[in-house]
Amino acid sequence: MSNIRNIVILTGAGISAESGIDTFRGGGGLWENHRVEDVATPEAFARDPDLVHRFYDARRAAIQQVEPNAAHYALARLDAEWEGNLLIVTQNVDDLHERAGASRVLHMHGEHLSAWCQSCDARHHWRGPLIDRPACPECSAETLRPDIVWFGEMPYRMEEIYAAVSEADLFVSIGTSGAVYPAAGLVQEAAAQGAQTVELNLERSQGSHFFDVTRLGPAGQLVPAWVEEMLASAR
Ligand code: APR
Repeated sequence: MSNIRNIVILTGAGISAESGIDTFRGGGGLWENHRVEDVATPEAFARDPDLVHRFYDARRAAIQQVEPNAAHYALARLDAEWEGNLLIVTQNVDDLHERAGASRVLHMHGEHLSAWCQSCDARHHWRGPLIDRPACPECSAETLRPDIVWFGEMPYRMEEIYAAVSEADLFVSIGTSGAVYPAAGLVQEAAAQGAQTVELNLERSQGSHFFDVTRLGPAGQLVPAWVEEMLASAR
């Protein structure tokens, strides 16, 4: 791992699994108990906003009951000690990266602890429920929605993500199934411009064949070991 200066790390639900947050796919995953079409599309929100609010209100409350795990803390340490460029691009909508101390984090699918006003477009840090239609602190309209990127909507800050990937010497993917684009396509973008690519995951993802290296196991074990290696290589 020599000559590495710029690192992009993509994280998915698997990095938060050991903190007690459900993943989306696979055994017991969220999408086994809820139909995406019912809770995670703009059409679903237009059709039955209470159902969608109930779903996200429960998840917003749940993430405030859990703690970051060893994988989050290891990435926060790398973020603090890595002198080169580093960006953690997360598909996760929990705040565990930040609660572990990481600062170079970009939420491409939005955040649970944010509410988005559909009248004035303001976004607000939000911890409580939305089902009772609380007024927007900015414009008082009762049109706040979860600040989550739903299926059929464009992920956030894609230009920044592609710019970082185009400069990356190393692209690392942690705890994601590679089932959802454009996140799942970033490894190919990185490889195409010459970056080394590493996957750390419990099981092979749908994009495993695109990676130079795949290490299988729980993130809570794989990530601290990988971070140790990276910091040792930089000394
Ligand atoms: N350590 C490492 N990897 C794990 C662990 C663990 N402890 N537990 C599960 N995994 C892996 C699984 O093997 C799987 O490959 O994490 C992956 C989780 O995959 P998904 O549930 O599909 O989650 P993710 O890839 O983040 O989903 C992408 O889909 O539903 C949408 O917008 C949502 O951001 C989400 C996107």
